[in-house]
Amino acid sequence: MILGIETSCDETSVALVSPEGRVHANLIASQIETHRPYGGVVPEIASREHLDHLMPLVEKALADQSLELEELSAIAVTSGPGLIGALLVGVAAAQGLAYGSSKPLVAVNHLEGHLLSGFMRRDADARELPELFYSIVVSGGHSSIYRVDRGRVSVMNRTRDDAAGEVFDKVAKYVGLPYPGGPHVDRLAREGDASRFSFALPQFKDGAPDFSFSGLKANAIRIAEAEKVTAADDQEPTRLLRDFCASLQSAIIDQLIDRLEKVTADAPSGTPVCLTGGVAANSELRERFESWAADRDLEPLIAERAFCTDNAAMIAHAGIHKLRSGGAADALRVPAHSRWQPGE
Ligand code: KG4
Ligand code: ZN
Repeated sequence: MILGIETSCDETSVALVSPEGRVHANLIASQIETHRPYGGVVPEIASREHLDHLMPLVEKALADQSLELEELSAIAVTSGPGLIGALLVGVAAAQGLAYGSSKPLVAVNHLEGHLLSGFMRRDADARELPELFYSIVVSGGHSSIYRVDRGRVSVMNRTRDDAAGEVFDKVAKYVGLPYPGGPHVDRLAREGDASRFSFALPQFKDGAPDFSFSGLKANAIRIAEAEKVTAADDQEPTRLLRDFCASLQSAIIDQLIDRLEKVTADAPSGTPVCLTGGVAANSELRERFESWAADRDLEPLIAERAFCTDNAAMIAHAGIHKLRSGGAADALRVPAHSRWQPGE
């Protein structure tokens, strides 16, 4: 069994995954409630919370599976990208555990964890990785499409400003929805009219298929201000609020699908395309992604909701692939990187 540790942002997570990629434990201590009063993640608070929660979670995961540390085959830890103080808590703990028990330690890129998570299955071994696949990772901190060809990761596009999840969260915060806003916008959009407000699809003069969400965010906030779109705790959501959420969500998804279309233009039919990251929990995105892939004759692989948001199972799973290609590190020399592109 491989122990996975994830502390890159505001979720402390510990997982136990078999060498075949079957998830036996995936414990998550979410800090959402702690950060909610601030409307976003406070890095210093995140680090302290990881310190409090990490080792009890490791002990619980092992105890639940009746395992001793000595019985593990390896330890995989997120070593970047993320909040540096938060990462250091996980990395230092993993180093101590690996060194103390003489187990191999593997340093995993958090985004690689996400981009492989579409191959993990609940209550089953993971699927083997195909020779060629694409993966879109959309979360609160990242929006990128990757192409993986025989294990080599290429970054096909990136965001020039905000991440997709940031637009959900910041616009939601502006209208008074609780943090994080994504799931609330998702829920309200279900009964809204997406044609009420329209937003331009950004295109770059240089033709790059990059994402850009800051114009959409600014426009949405301007509309919310002009039209007085607000969400009051004690009131039924208004039609205006639902229509606003539906319009915003649909514009975000339009851009995601537009970039997918461009980036996969020469993908052979049947190529798997994975959708993952926190925003991949969005119900409209899941539906539209699936029908887009069907139209393009590509195989849609949508990550299980539990593996979309930050979790240690995806870190252990990516660690297994890295170990197979000889990627174990010297336990005492694993660094924490606040920035780190997959494939670098
Ligand atoms: O992957 P994740 O847990 O953390 C990061 O690495 O950022 O993603 C969190 C993001 C937040 O922006 C949150 O609002 C968004 O995922 N999110 C959603 C939904 N569930 C979570 N966005 C849209 N619709 C959802 N249902
Ligand atoms: Zn993430």
